[in-house]
Amino acid sequence: MERVAVGLVGLGIVGSGFYSLMKHNGEHFASKMGTSAEITKVAEIDTARAKKQVPKDVLVEDYRRVIEDDAIQVVIELVGGTGVAYDIIRSAIERGKHVITANKALLALRGAELFALAREKQVELKFEAAVGGGIPIIKVVRESLVGNRIGKVMGILNGTSNYILTQMSEKQLPFEQALKEAQGAGFAEADPALDVGGGDAAHKISLLASFAFGGWVDYRQILCEGITMVRPGEIEFAASAGFAVKLIASAMLVDGKPAVTVFPALIPAQHPLSSVRNEVNAVFVECDFLGPALFLGRGAGANATASSVASDLGDLVQALMLHAKRGGYPFDPRRTLELYPDQKMEYRFFFHFITENRPGIWATVTGCLAGNGINIESVHQKWEDRSKPSDLYILVDEAREEQAKKALREVCSASGISSDSRFYRILPL
Ligand code: HSE
Repeated sequence: MERVAVGLVGLGIVGSGFYSLMKHNGEHFASKMGTSAEITKVAEIDTARAKKQVPKDVLVEDYRRVIEDDAIQVVIELVGGTGVAYDIIRSAIERGKHVITANKALLALRGAELFALAREKQVELKFEAAVGGGIPIIKVVRESLVGNRIGKVMGILNGTSNYILTQMSEKQLPFEQALKEAQGAGFAEADPALDVGGGDAAHKISLLASFAFGGWVDYRQILCEGITMVRPGEIEFAASAGFAVKLIASAMLVDGKPAVTVFPALIPAQHPLSSVRNEVNAVFVECDFLGPALFLGRGAGANATASSVASDLGDLVQALMLHAKRGGYPFDPRRTLELYPDQKMEYRFFFHFITENRPGIWATVTGCLAGNGINIESVHQKWEDRSKPSDLYILVDEAREEQAKKALREVCSASGISSDSRFYRILPL
């Protein structure tokens, strides 16, 4: 049987998961592919920890020994972060090696350059594990839907945030405790601010949007809000009104331009994404011939992510055996796409005003909404004690983002209304 030599760099959570997958399922992989993939070198700085898992003759401390090994055809970068991981990927591509990575932060930041370099060197830069954990969604968007025009990709792309929102809503767990549990389970990023601040989901949706729409989407231009401000009372009220609160990443074509956003949204309880719980991710794709399709699975954690790394390796092994020249996808990393302005997007909104309890407050709030052309659907006030601030929840009809923002600014500058007041966008069924 033919053999492909593989170098693995980084033996953290995902690296260990992938190493263990190949140990358990390597023969199965080889029997399916008709070719074996052998990890001939593993580079890990923490050699003491790595020695427990990897034989001495395979383990090296310096990643350059993997890159400089001419027998290695595929380098798997699982170090993470935007520092040394960049050098690893760049130098591997420059030496003509195919690369697999799970590094969404690095690809979102420097993908345009790295994908262009890979194209120039005629090697593959594969990243299934970077988006949606174990869900093979990159393959779907890049390859399987090639006969379709994709109009929309949206979903739950951050397992940690989804875990936190699920625990807050189902078990009334405080935010901090739910985050600790997600960290303990190995879902969270080394810097969990990326999870709860929406950055991780923004990295992922920018990659999905780039491959769905054929040009580069710069994640720094995306409207991005995380879940740190979400309060238990808002989740409770949303549930009583028939909605779930979820961190939704979305990319859709509006007037021919991609509108790309990440924010905590209210979605109807009947929406398929509302029942996606804990670390599970789900991606909903809408395209012209297939129509709507939903892809769902574990979006974080060592094993699920390792499964996606192995999927990329399977593709590369097959291409290497066929001596196929790959990379012909209709995607140009050097063409940055102009985004549809988020201020023009239209939604129904759920406003949460935190107010004093005295005459005239409702008049101020409703006056500002009316003054901005916003039509109120329903009003609910949670009143606990006259001397304490109360929560005024207002659902409104469709309006543009800029109208909602202006109304919120005006209300927040009025006396008796807290500047912590906010709104959530409501997504349709
Ligand atoms: N921190 C990420 C998440 C891991 O929670 O989804 C998978 O990319």
